[in-house]
Amino acid sequence: MMDKQETAKKTIFSGIQPSGTLTIGNYIGALRHFPELQETYNCIYCIVDEHAITVRQNPADLRRRCLELAAVYLASGIDPEKCIIYCQSHVSAHAELAWILNCFTYMGELQRMTQFKDKAAKHADNINAGLFTYPVLMAADILLYQADAVPVGADQKQHLEITRDIAQRFNSIYGDVFTVPEPLITKVGSRVMSLQDPTRKMSKSDPEECFISLLDEPDAVRRKIKRAMTDSDGEIRFDPENKPGVSNLLSIISTLTGEDMETICGEMAGKGYGDLKNRTSDAVIAALEPLQSEYKRLIADKQYLLDTLLSGAEKANSIAIRTLRKVQKKIGFAPRSLK
Ligand code: TYM
Repeated sequence: MMDKQETAKKTIFSGIQPSGTLTIGNYIGALRHFPELQETYNCIYCIVDEHAITVRQNPADLRRRCLELAAVYLASGIDPEKCIIYCQSHVSAHAELAWILNCFTYMGELQRMTQFKDKAAKHADNINAGLFTYPVLMAADILLYQADAVPVGADQKQHLEITRDIAQRFNSIYGDVFTVPEPLITKVGSRVMSLQDPTRKMSKSDPEECFISLLDEPDAVRRKIKRAMTDSDGEIRFDPENKPGVSNLLSIISTLTGEDMETICGEMAGKGYGDLKNRTSDAVIAALEPLQSEYKRLIADKQYLLDTLLSGAEKANSIAIRTLRKVQKKIGFAPRSLK
């Protein structure tokens, strides 16, 4: 049972797909906020393996990556005593609520989703129905836990909007069933760009040299940043529109060191891109070092990771099932008892 103080706390929910190496984009846009929030909120962090299979996965790799992501969550500072971390597929209410919400979501709404359009273009041989209804499963994830806020990168904003629309639509028919969640998207760092094409977001599905993995060794970090695309005018200035490459490196420094942009630009004034790149590499290496050493320790203990996920799933299930039962009752599914 939650005590009074805990119930008064707001709820945070977020998820990450176990579909490949996490990048510093995932870290800066989402993951680094997860441990910060655990001191003030009830936090629930999910490994969204059901979302991952909207793109074909190798079963052995998927199984391994779920445990790897659990290790990354813990290594980032998420404390399983304070938060719930678990695998989506271990809590069947996600799929059940998603089905129901599918019946409250319009084709036209889903057709407008840019992530669907992007992924459909990337995987033209496998435009499956799951890829299309992906945002509905995401809405189910969030609404099951009555989340007040959802920390995500800017690319998920549209999915948060449809989640809010679905929740409001449902509430307007059946009464106050769902909390309508707010997105938590920071100003700087919510869209880390590709190192090779800074007009596109950094993505784990792009070629290696476009992104920095959370597990990249320092020399790989330096090599990739050294080759990052900048521009030819040589001035260090934060101007995402005209100087996307330089601005991307500046944002990475600012978010990872906590220094504000003006201070960094002041310090870098008159210096060259080589200095900017060295400074970026130093910031990335310093931020990743503690995470990587914790990760190495944790990934060696698979049993601990699995136990943590299973006990997380039990706690998640007890919250999720309450919302699911309420929804089922509201829409008129057969009762489970006549009392
Ligand atoms: P996923 O796994 O693609 O990404 C995980 C998180 O990382 C953020 N992100 C970025 N942030 C800044 N710059 C980037 N280049 C960058 N790339 C990724 C994403 O915005 C995300 O916050 N649909 C979600 C997973 C999900 C979810 C949820 C999230 C499923 N259910 C419920 C929140 C709540 C996704 O694909 O994230």
